[in-house]
Amino acid sequence: EGGAELPNVNWSFGGLFGSFDRASAQRGFQVYNNVCSACHSLKQAYYRNLTGIGLTDEQVKMIAANKTVPTLKDDGSVGERPALPSDHFRSPFPNDLAARAANNGALPPDLSVIVKAREGGANYVYGVLTGYADPPAGFKLMDGMNYNHFFPGNQIGMPQPLRDDTVEYTDGTKPTLDQQARDVVTFLAFIANPELEERHRMGVKVVLFLLLLTGLSYSVKRKLWAGVH
Ligand code: HEM
Repeated sequence: EGGAELPNVNWSFGGLFGSFDRASAQRGFQVYNNVCSACHSLKQAYYRNLTGIGLTDEQVKMIAANKTVPTLKDDGSVGERPALPSDHFRSPFPNDLAARAANNGALPPDLSVIVKAREGGANYVYGVLTGYADPPAGFKLMDGMNYNHFFPGNQIGMPQPLRDDTVEYTDGTKPTLDQQARDVVTFLAFIANPELEERHRMGVKVVLFLLLLTGLSYSVKRKLWAGVH
């Protein structure tokens, strides 16, 4: 489905030894925060998770303090208060109906595990973000829909969210479409797999241990059987 073959991006977090490019993930947070968060929730993430991409506790406090989250007031009504690092990321809409109402009937999915949930993973999300194009001649695009090479069925309700220079990076990196797409996917991959680096480190230790154990077993075997002919 979706037609074209997915791009094959060389991700920092790919392979057996991969780890998250911290600078890229931080830029990716900027993209999520400035662009995607207008429509997509990231419900499973807490503000404190941002220390995992290299932000300091102080930076995280500041980021959270600039957001509000719903709270129950003393009189029993629902109010808002500044967020804390221990809060979940705030959602743009109170529920799915409100989200659909604001998006022509289409539901912007929660992005917490999007890079794990979709076939093609990070390459698919990168593909959707960079895959907008004019529909080929004769393609019937429904009202309010956009042509995309990689979204299943090639019609997507999401208007193209990123173009060159959509965000201005605070670290001076040139915000090409490709760069912003890579960065936000790196950030979303971290959110979906915060334990990935630990898993990779453990994998290396397990392999080293097994190598050692194999060598040891072999020399013990040689010694035990040395006199047997
Ligand atoms: C769908 C990511 C910004 C509205 C999607 C999908 C992805 C995605 C990967 C496809 C999900 C799937 O396979 O089901 C992003 C990212 C954004 C962003 C990373 C920021 C760079 C936005 C914005 C809006 C929006 C700003 C609203 C103006 C939607 C909607 C859908 C969608 C309505 C569902 C489309 C459909 O089912 O036809 N988004 N998005 N997105 N997005 Fe976004």
